Amino acid sequence: MANVVIIGTQWGDEGKGKVVDLLTQKADCIVRFQGGNNAGHTLVVNGRKYIFHLIPSGILHPGKVCMIGNGVVLDPAVLIQEMDRLRDCGMPVTPERLVISRYTHVIMPYHRALDLAREGRKGAHRIGTTGRGIGPCYEDKVCRGGIRMHDLLHRKALREKLKRNLEEKNFLLERFFGEKPLDAASIEEEYLAYGERLSPYLDNVSMRLQDADRKGCNLLFEGAQGTHLDIDHGTYPFVTSSNTVAGNACCGAGIGPTRIHTVLGVVKAYTTRVGGGPFPSELKDETGEAMRERGGEFGATTGRPRRCGWLDMAVVNTSVRLNGLSGLIVTKLDVLTGIPSLKICVAYKCGNERIQAIPPELEAIEACEPICEEFPGWENDISRVRRFSDLPGNTVRYLKAVEELAGVPLYVVSVGPGREETIVLRHPFE
Ligand code: IMP
Repeated sequence: MANVVIIGTQWGDEGKGKVVDLLTQKADCIVRFQGGNNAGHTLVVNGRKYIFHLIPSGILHPGKVCMIGNGVVLDPAVLIQEMDRLRDCGMPVTPERLVISRYTHVIMPYHRALDLAREGRKGAHRIGTTGRGIGPCYEDKVCRGGIRMHDLLHRKALREKLKRNLEEKNFLLERFFGEKPLDAASIEEEYLAYGERLSPYLDNVSMRLQDADRKGCNLLFEGAQGTHLDIDHGTYPFVTSSNTVAGNACCGAGIGPTRIHTVLGVVKAYTTRVGGGPFPSELKDETGEAMRERGGEFGATTGRPRRCGWLDMAVVNTSVRLNGLSGLIVTKLDVLTGIPSLKICVAYKCGNERIQAIPPELEAIEACEPICEEFPGWENDISRVRRFSDLPGNTVRYLKAVEELAGVPLYVVSVGPGREETIVLRHPFE
């Protein structure tokens, strides 16, 4: 029995979906604990591409239980759409397969409206939010005005909460942002219908996890976004609105820290970022362009082109510290094939100082110059390689450098998008 947390070590889009899908084969429960439908997992299974925003990717494995914890913010319309799409593909999502916390906060239409209106006013200071209402929903959670999944089961309580919320939100939307107000009655009807449809799936996720843990099940906690989008530890304000670090698996699912045994960090073999914010190793040249094209680096949620750059180990090392990583999973290594000379940012020069972690303040990051080491590239197609020892010498050199710079061992290397295009060195569930 083992309980494992998987998180992204960069700015999201590290390929966590594929990794979670792979590890799910040996897990019993797969749990999401933060974020919402700002995330997007692209999975290729039997040559078919699936994109999910809310349902844990483990749903593709029959017999596994997927859970959405209290730390997630949930847009019921999006969830129902994903469930319907799966049903149409012959994979019905039953309450035995999907459990939603009764205490998960609900993304309401005014959250989306405010997210977009606010971003629109920011002009040059735009964060690049996905506009899904994630931030405003977390705001309501913290100011104790939020609506939770169980509220959708009670008309009277929902009506009262909606009334109180809309008084304030409509004032903001109309008077401050110059947008149209929203109608309480139609929202009430729409969300009660969502409540009715989803009620069989609602439960106490924390208790379900305790039961599963006591029975000796393997639990897999699936982080969304990446460490440097964390609301506290990321490149604030260019971050998302939740804690993306591994510690939040405990708060966001309702499990104690002593029940977590392994924390793995997913590292893309290069770096990407979508939206605004600092990115010291960014490449604005044809190499960055080649990474974007070959890696298919376009947002799974918004379709925006992702910014690309060299692997930055100051970023990864900071993630080793913030998450207490047990090991690394390197993804998309095949995208680097054919680039004659590769660079890894090993540290930053900041004035006269050499630092090996990304500082949290924007001003300090701007003053950082990446210090890069060069590594010879490889030409051979590595996507068919299944054993570490069969990789070309230069690929091994690159990976060994990553392992050494991070100071934690490699667990898995992904050499292509398919489930089987993977080299497993250590398995967290074995
Ligand atoms: P929000 O979470 O939609 O408010 O967006 C805040 C910032 O986080 C923006 O820069 C987004 O592009 C970024 N972001 C949010 N979710 C993801 C993700 O799953 N992958 C990568 N970036 C994300």
